[in-house]
Amino acid sequence: MSATIIDGFQIAANVRGRVAKQVSELKKKGICPCLAVILVGEDPASISYVTGKEKALAEVGMTDKSIRLPADTKEQDLLNIIDELNDDKTVHGILVQLPLPKHINEEKVIMAINPEKDVDGFHPINVGNMVIGKKSYLPCTPHGVLVLLREMNIPTNGMHAVVVGRSNIVGKPLSILLSRKDINATVTICHTGTKNIAEHTRQADILIAAVGKAGVITADMIKPGATVIDVGVNRIPDSTKKSGFRLVGDVDFEAAKKVASFITPVPRGVGPMTIAMLMQNTLEAAQGK
Ligand code: GUN
Repeated sequence: MSATIIDGFQIAANVRGRVAKQVSELKKKGICPCLAVILVGEDPASISYVTGKEKALAEVGMTDKSIRLPADTKEQDLLNIIDELNDDKTVHGILVQLPLPKHINEEKVIMAINPEKDVDGFHPINVGNMVIGKKSYLPCTPHGVLVLLREMNIPTNGMHAVVVGRSNIVGKPLSILLSRKDINATVTICHTGTKNIAEHTRQADILIAAVGKAGVITADMIKPGATVIDVGVNRIPDSTKKSGFRLVGDVDFEAAKKVASFITPVPRGVGPMTIAMLMQNTLEAAQGK
């Protein structure tokens, strides 16, 4: 038996297709959704993510205001740019690609974005509203995971979801969203302080790997028949590739697919969903929802 591979690439394309239709409706009313994408520095992974986001913006018919800044940009200069974008009525969403260079305080930057333009859902106002179940921009990767589960008709009600990783971008918000009434999973969150992680992961009906280390989730850590969602994107050296590396997840995919019932691949799993949900949030920002 081999698991069903969840085709995040296709599901994301469907989401983008629905967004594109609504963008063309909005354009008929004279509104062109616009996302400002700010990249500070030249981290290769960040460049690749930002390029992917900008490509998707063009594909769904949105405008991309691309802002590239050198790695030694002063924090105050970045804050000033965000202020200008907050006041610019033609800009509906603002995204600052993380991580930022060490000398810039990420928290301060996130706090500077108008919550109504915070399509990443990182501002404490949006995080707070998400926690208490009020309307907010949902963070793109966790939201994308929920859409994958829904589109694959994977039951969540009363299921045990185990999230490995407690980052502000993925693990923490995902654990909250999975426990929301409409999803209704029982959630365990594992992190670097957890003793014997495998003991927990083996109880998971839905296992979410959001660690950021290649292959840390091995097949023996997975309950037979579980759904495995791999959020990890790790670059490992590969001399057969022109780039000199290839992307792998946190899960030992080849072994895990023999145990799981559903599994996301890396690439073409969760990654495209993050971008698709960003398109959806930007559309909603332009719709004034
Ligand atoms: N870095 C890694 N993931 C993300 C994301 O979803 N948004 C932003 N802005 N930066 C990231």
